[in-house]
Amino acid sequence: MTYYKRMVKKVETLRKQKVVRILAIESSCDDTSVAIVENGRKVLSNVISSQIDIHTRFGGVVPEVASRNHILAVMPLVDQALKIANLQLSDIDCIGVTQGAGLVGSLLVGLTSAKALAFALDIPLIACNHIKGHIAGNYLTYQDLEPPFICLIVSGGHTAIVKVDDYTHFNLIGSTQDDAIGEAFDKVARVLGLGYPGGPKIDKLANGVPATIEFVKHSTLLNSFDVSYSGLKTAVINYIHNLQSRGENVDIPSICASFEHEAVDMIVDKTIRACVEAKMDIIAVAGGVSANTYLRNSLKSKANKLGIDVKVPDFVYCTDNAAMIGSIAYYEMLANPPAELNISALSHIEIK
Ligand code: KG4
Ligand code: ZN
Repeated sequence: MTYYKRMVKKVETLRKQKVVRILAIESSCDDTSVAIVENGRKVLSNVISSQIDIHTRFGGVVPEVASRNHILAVMPLVDQALKIANLQLSDIDCIGVTQGAGLVGSLLVGLTSAKALAFALDIPLIACNHIKGHIAGNYLTYQDLEPPFICLIVSGGHTAIVKVDDYTHFNLIGSTQDDAIGEAFDKVARVLGLGYPGGPKIDKLANGVPATIEFVKHSTLLNSFDVSYSGLKTAVINYIHNLQSRGENVDIPSICASFEHEAVDMIVDKTIRACVEAKMDIIAVAGGVSANTYLRNSLKSKANKLGIDVKVPDFVYCTDNAAMIGSIAYYEMLANPPAELNISALSHIEIK
């Protein structure tokens, strides 16, 4: 019997097994991470090797540099994850891996390592969507959380409002028409000379500062669930350049607060409207920008007033990590056949 036919049968057995341990690998951007997750909910280990220090000097992620560093990090992280979980490779039932979206060179490192492990251990490979992984980050923090709910996805590469119908079925309600919210944070921070990644730096500088500058006065997307960040980003950059060309003072905290409020209010208000229209009572947040203080506070206070409960994953499950992939891989394994060994890395994948 071929490897794949064996794996289809193995997955059928795993679906009936009481305890399923998945070793997951995430390498879609500049963090390499390996985790071991039990039954999609219990994190036995989750180790992350960050490349922020390496990319900071370039002002952003350099894809080729990221791929090379993933190669150095991935197998030692597998060893570390096993050691922390006090397990051996033979205790692992399944390999989960991010197939996309992300930087293809980075994804390929995780994907190739995952394929090699799955084949060598003769266990199934589960290919995962990074964004669905971010949504699953909520299941690790909220053990009782179950679909359906509305999810606000705010990361460096994605901005979307999604209805999570069940663990593996999603309905896209709205999304960005251009830049992602995290990308806008990073670009504004760069122009202000704050360095990479800009989101946390803007968050810190904006904390407690009033938002007094209005950057985008009219949006054509007012009645839609879609958003646009390119106009806001350009307006902020033009504002800074104008001040600089006139030799006037650039009030960095005030610009950070005003940009942050405008960027966050736009998507938060639409998410709440989507939740009310869908008659749902839970909004979960996913992706790196869910670490933002203003976003967390303003979403919670606005939604709670309408009786909507807001879930935000623990900080470690907000930014890129393999535990969230270990969680979604479990639900994919329950619902879908395993991946073949010839699958490719995908730079873009739809949420559906
Ligand atoms: O989800 P993530 O770790 O990677 C992607 O899949 O994109 O998100 C990274 C993004 C970056 O743009 C970073 O600046 C942003 O999340 N970010 C934040 C904060 N922490 C991370 N943005 C605003 N406030 C924060 N506290
Ligand atoms: Zn991410």
